[in-house]
Amino acid sequence: MDVIYSKQEIAHLPYRNNKLDVEKRVEDLFKRLTLDEKIRLLSGHRIFNTAPINRVGLESMRMTDGPFGVSMLSGGLTKNTRFPCTKSLAATWNRDLANKLGGAIADEVRARGRHVLLAPGINIDRTPLNGRTFEYYGEDPYITKEFAIQFVKGVQDKNIGACIKHFVVNNQEILRKTISVEIDERTLHEVYLRSFESVIKEANPYFVMTCYNKVNGIYGSDNSYLIREVLLEKWGFQGVVVTDWGATYHDELTPKSCLKAGLSLEMPTGRKYKKKLLHDALQNHEIEEEWINDAVRRILLVAGKTGVFDNPDSLPIGITNSYDHQSLSRQIAEEGMVLLKNNGILPLDIASINSIAILGPNKNKKFGKLLYGGSSAVKPPYEVTPQVGIKNYLPDRVKLVQDPSKADVTLLFLGLNHDKDGGRREFFPIPFLKRKKALKYGHDSEGADRAQLELPHSQIALIENTIKQNPKTIVILINGSPIGMNNWIESVPAVLEAWYGGMEAGNAIAKVILGEINPSGKLPITFPEKIEDSPAHKSSEMYPGDLESLKVFYDEGIFVGYRHFEKYNISPLFPFGFGLSYTTFSYDSLSLEKNELKGLNDSLFLSVDITNTGSRSGSEIVQVYAHDVEAKVDRPFKELIGFEKIHLDPNDTKTVKIEIKGKDLAYYDVNIHDWNLDPGTIKILVGSSSQDIHLESEIVYS
Ligand code: BGC
Repeated sequence: MDVIYSKQEIAHLPYRNNKLDVEKRVEDLFKRLTLDEKIRLLSGHRIFNTAPINRVGLESMRMTDGPFGVSMLSGGLTKNTRFPCTKSLAATWNRDLANKLGGAIADEVRARGRHVLLAPGINIDRTPLNGRTFEYYGEDPYITKEFAIQFVKGVQDKNIGACIKHFVVNNQEILRKTISVEIDERTLHEVYLRSFESVIKEANPYFVMTCYNKVNGIYGSDNSYLIREVLLEKWGFQGVVVTDWGATYHDELTPKSCLKAGLSLEMPTGRKYKKKLLHDALQNHEIEEEWINDAVRRILLVAGKTGVFDNPDSLPIGITNSYDHQSLSRQIAEEGMVLLKNNGILPLDIASINSIAILGPNKNKKFGKLLYGGSSAVKPPYEVTPQVGIKNYLPDRVKLVQDPSKADVTLLFLGLNHDKDGGRREFFPIPFLKRKKALKYGHDSEGADRAQLELPHSQIALIENTIKQNPKTIVILINGSPIGMNNWIESVPAVLEAWYGGMEAGNAIAKVILGEINPSGKLPITFPEKIEDSPAHKSSEMYPGDLESLKVFYDEGIFVGYRHFEKYNISPLFPFGFGLSYTTFSYDSLSLEKNELKGLNDSLFLSVDITNTGSRSGSEIVQVYAHDVEAKVDRPFKELIGFEKIHLDPNDTKTVKIEIKGKDLAYYDVNIHDWNLDPGTIKILVGSSSQDIHLESEIVYS
């Protein structure tokens, strides 16, 4: 008979003592657990919790979704700050905002009594049609890791666990639960695993979530190569490997295959990590008890670090919907907006404007609704729509009119939405006709991909009509993934990409349009002219995959995003790193601290002088790319290896310093199964976008 502890005894068990090291607390608790209790810890108890072990007073470890706030479904149906979507955050190119956002969301997670945030998502954008593009940072591993490292640190500095997901190559929602990604070793590591590796090594996230899909024929949740060999052994990951929700619910996966691969926690309930199955497997010597122990220790370690062992009264209370969080939300939205086209009409010269028409399907649309877009959906206590935001900032004298022909200027709010049929499509069956309609128009949503790059036909018709009535029609896009604009961009004087800007979006948009904020965002993803120009869209085998064999072939290799456009000399509509400002900048005096790098751990600083040559204050994002000219393998024409954002008043000059690290220049060498660089010259290119390089220099790698 196992010891039954009284409440008083539990309060005095060493594992409850927060003065002891967490490792000691874990060991104390671990040795008190029976095998059955350990098995109960290996799978979900309620949809977002681990099992409590009441006999020893162990509470559940509770999780909630992100990445732009505490989601409504997993946050106990609560309303929380809705921050801008991840694409908006990445478009700020401001690492500090990622760090602050991580900290702010962690405070909200704590306030809702949760311990782990199921974010950030760090999959690389392979196709602009991926329904979850709005949840990811971009098409480039460097920008992705730079943001995710800061986000994870921000979260975990508050003792809330972060979870990087979806490990790995979950790059499409179509067939996400069954498709096998067929990918070569170099591409897997150099493009898709690279940001996971860096975040694990530099920010130590407590959780890694597996993907639903198969990778080279084996599901992510029992993929020994990915989990055991790479994540645990090669990278030394110490935390919990959790399944995506329901990712183990296939016959091919067994208790043995999952445990052996190194999967720690099965969510939302145990299908493989069930008492009877695990006892049988132990008895038949298919599994070792030590594998169970290892998984349990990992779960307990995170539980200990995030406050599960502590008296809830001793934990910080956290905070949600604070003024600071609302301001941060607005700041991210402001800095993330990307001005794509401007013939000088923006910012509006409001002194000369007497009437404005605000039109379009997204002018008053609220995006924060339960499951709207999928698991990431945050419902906020309020949401400032563009129309409300603009009204907040317009002088009373300016009239709002409906008829564009009677307006001095028309603001047309277009874009996508989260498609209320889309999120959790697999869980809640949707009538076929409704689904067809949703696919026709294409939305940003988990569980489904967009069907086309272009805006819905009705919106294109609206642009054509409105422009006829008022040539001063500005298009403001609200969406989370690239939009094709070939058939209308020439006709409009300005286009502003506002993304899904969170609960303060309307105020942020108004400030940019009226010139109180000078736009400084730049694209973290290429906007192609047409979908066939994208790397994954050369054949149906490459996307969405062969429907018979359920395989999708990553034949483009490492040439994803701008790497592809440059290799094949395809002009995109807007290149990676692009974004206009209301001012202009000049670049001078590029200098390198030294001209030689010795080994991958070496690094050097470059400096460059940036001057604001226009008449308004503004921020510039200085981007550094590398081109390895003497490699033994085929290398991209450019790869992002550094960036910095600076603010300058008119006529001001500042020297920007950017560190170049050997590791960021490396390629994945399949001969040594590791990062490598061949001795020789590497070009260093400094510019304001991937296609606007102002200065260059060279270093030698030896
Ligand atoms: C999503 C994950 C999410 C999980 C829990 C899954 O369907 O793919 O990103 O964290 O559900 O809600």
